Amino acid sequence: MLERSAVQPCHAIEKPKGCLSQLFRIAHLSDLHVLSAAGVEWRRMLFNKRITGYANLLLHRGRVYRRDYLRAVVAAAVQADHVVVTGDITNLSLESEYDAARALLDGVARSAEVSVVPGNHDIYLPAIHHERRFPHHFAAFLHSDLPQFARDLPAGPFPYVKLRGPVAIIGLSSAVPRPPFVSAGYLGHAQLAALADLLAHAEVARRTSVVLIHHPPVDARWPIVRLRDGLVDAASLRRTLQGLARGLVLYGHTHVRVRCRLPTAFGSLDVISASGAALDSSDDAVRAGFNRYGFDDDGRIASVEAHVIDPSGQGLRATAITERRSCL
Ligand SMILES: [Fe+2]
Ligand SMILES: [Fe+2]
Repeated sequence: MLERSAVQPCHAIEKPKGCLSQLFRIAHLSDLHVLSAAGVEWRRMLFNKRITGYANLLLHRGRVYRRDYLRAVVAAAVQADHVVVTGDITNLSLESEYDAARALLDGVARSAEVSVVPGNHDIYLPAIHHERRFPHHFAAFLHSDLPQFARDLPAGPFPYVKLRGPVAIIGLSSAVPRPPFVSAGYLGHAQLAALADLLAHAEVARRTSVVLIHHPPVDARWPIVRLRDGLVDAASLRRTLQGLARGLVLYGHTHVRVRCRLPTAFGSLDVISASGAALDSSDDAVRAGFNRYGFDDDGRIASVEAHVIDPSGQGLRATAITERRSCL
């Protein structure tokens, strides 16, 4: 049998002679909410938004976000060509959480390439944003093959793109600082215009796009809820994606694993969320796990799978992703 490392894969688009045909696999993790309060000065927390987050944590910590689940999910997810993480990697944007999350992702990167985008919990306070803590810690996972399209945002250079075999993995930043009890996301005109230019580039256009964003690009909730917790300019994003014939739009934030099909001018997109990677729940749509997507040599989406923690809490089992009849 051919060793994987000994032969070039066919999904190099140009299809090298004698290449080994195999699926290009992307593992999708989201909402890790890595916790670490080491070295925190609690008095300082009393005067900012973190106190509400910490109170929430005290009520639920250890019961809702389980480190043992996260370890098991990550260990299974690394069996892929690329691991994408759609935000809320930390819980309160604490430096100790960033350090713990970076160590975790460095471990993942020893097995598979890693791409990340920020969630609202990674930009928890205005100071975190302005001091650029997200790119400070995660620059290694924000590389772009076409950096001329990236805008210099406080959350890092977005949009970025990684051209890998049959896919173009595109990272967007929807995380912006908000007052307490508001977690809505925003892409902004500049980032969306850059995304439109990026999608038109020949090397992107000939591949299957896999768009990463934290906030939901489709949202059937009441408008008032969307304004508080959704993606404020989701309609503009959907318009920008209208020229794609196929692809994936991957997100997190809602902590519920669902999928739907979004029609475009030339075909449709699969819009899929992952649940929280450490969440304990008896509901399979919420329970800790990850999704995995397979692409054949021509960029066709050949498989969409979800895996959740099994009842023993040690291993994972396959589960279905709830499909919504309509995205909107
Ligand atoms: Fe989250
Ligand atoms: Fe979130």
